[in-house]
Amino acid sequence: MSARAVSREMPGSTAWPGTRTALLLTEAARRVYRGYVLGQHEGSRTPEEGMTIQLPLDQAHPIRPPGNLRDLQAQGPVHRVRTAVGDPAWLVTGYRELQELFGDSRLGRSHPEPGTAARWGDSMLHGGPQGNYATEPEDHARFRARVQPHFSPRRMRELRPRVEALTAELIDQLAASQPPADLTQALALPLPVAVICELLGVPLQDREMFREWTQSAADTRDRARSEHGLLSLYEYGQRLVARKHKEPGDDIISGWCADPEVPDDAVAMLAMSLLWAGHETTVYTIGIGALMLLTQPEQWQALHADPALVPAAAEEALRAAGWGGTPLIRYARAEIKIAGSTIAPGDLVLLHQGAANHDQAIFGDPARFDIARQAGAHLAFGHGTHYCAGAPLARIELQAAFGQLTSRFPRMQLAMPIEELTVTDGLLLPGLTALHVTW
Ligand code: HEM
Repeated sequence: MSARAVSREMPGSTAWPGTRTALLLTEAARRVYRGYVLGQHEGSRTPEEGMTIQLPLDQAHPIRPPGNLRDLQAQGPVHRVRTAVGDPAWLVTGYRELQELFGDSRLGRSHPEPGTAARWGDSMLHGGPQGNYATEPEDHARFRARVQPHFSPRRMRELRPRVEALTAELIDQLAASQPPADLTQALALPLPVAVICELLGVPLQDREMFREWTQSAADTRDRARSEHGLLSLYEYGQRLVARKHKEPGDDIISGWCADPEVPDDAVAMLAMSLLWAGHETTVYTIGIGALMLLTQPEQWQALHADPALVPAAAEEALRAAGWGGTPLIRYARAEIKIAGSTIAPGDLVLLHQGAANHDQAIFGDPARFDIARQAGAHLAFGHGTHYCAGAPLARIELQAAFGQLTSRFPRMQLAMPIEELTVTDGLLLPGLTALHVTW
């Protein structure tokens, strides 16, 4: 059986469609999955003739835009490309086109023939189609109904002081240490992990274990590793669910467990989806955002002098950070004409938010990091039906991180040459490997 057949036969995805992260597995799907891990291989692909733009785009530095993407944007907003695994796709780089397509019900995440659908990459997370083609809209509505209430304005008001306290603990530890320190390990990683663990009711002491799995699951080049990571996460989710039935707590997983309408398999999948979605992107944005601020000392000083600027700085970090990583994956459910191109039913469409957030027509001088610009219209959280459910929480975390960093460390600076910064290679979201700072 091919890897594509695996995704076609993923029954769990019928009932509980994916978040940005989720490939949803049930018991039956796990057997299918294991079968694949034990030895089968994907089918052959036939790249279309005449396509010259090869993904991934060539990003030389974490905070510099890929040169070839700039060239592409200069040519137009929609491009025919070949993905890293050799499949044909459309890459959308214009802000207005992205916005339009985000709201277009002729695009979905599923595919009628997932076994032969074009793929973005080898990762089992966001590498290809997700969910059930026949029931995707209803499945997604049910998913949102389960998740959304946990991010309501009231819930966020209650959570903010706790997020600020967790940030303060980490900042205190950093202040008590001897410079230099790695800001990735001191803040960017532990803050989102601690927040999502508390929210879900995942034991914090398990963090190294589940991080290993989330990173493996997000491996875009090694399919076996990606599958193993995803399966391990799911099994971990199942163990947590069993524990919550015996010892419920005041957390999201316990709440779902107590709901007779949510089967245990679905709880495990939802929980693991949120565990991934709830920290990887935030870790990435805190790291890159802090780096961008550190490269603009006058902006760091401005935040120190006037904390009221922090929310705008968080929005600019969200806008400016998103060069790397996976574009959002969609499949056309019908023919779509856009910007002079005709997208055929079944075609893979890649929505590149990083490019849209650097669209010259919307954000003047887009490569400049500027906390004074009105960056709130960025598409970092997507737009429309799938708009990030956790956006309010992510904003609280980013504001706490940038606010407390700049208020407690007015003289913080990079302790490594900017040219030596590297990102984790081959992951859906290539975060900074380290960010050494001194103060
Ligand atoms: C800086 C941090 C974050 C960024 C940049 C981000 C970005 C995104 C984007 C772009 C999407 C839309 C995906 C699509 O259209 O296919 C999304 C969806 C989602 N995000 Fe986030 N996210 C962040 C943090 C979070 C957090 C903290 C949580 C939860 C604790 C979360 C939960 C979700 C969920 C559940 C969805 C799925 C929504 C749906 O499909 O309806 N995210 N996120």
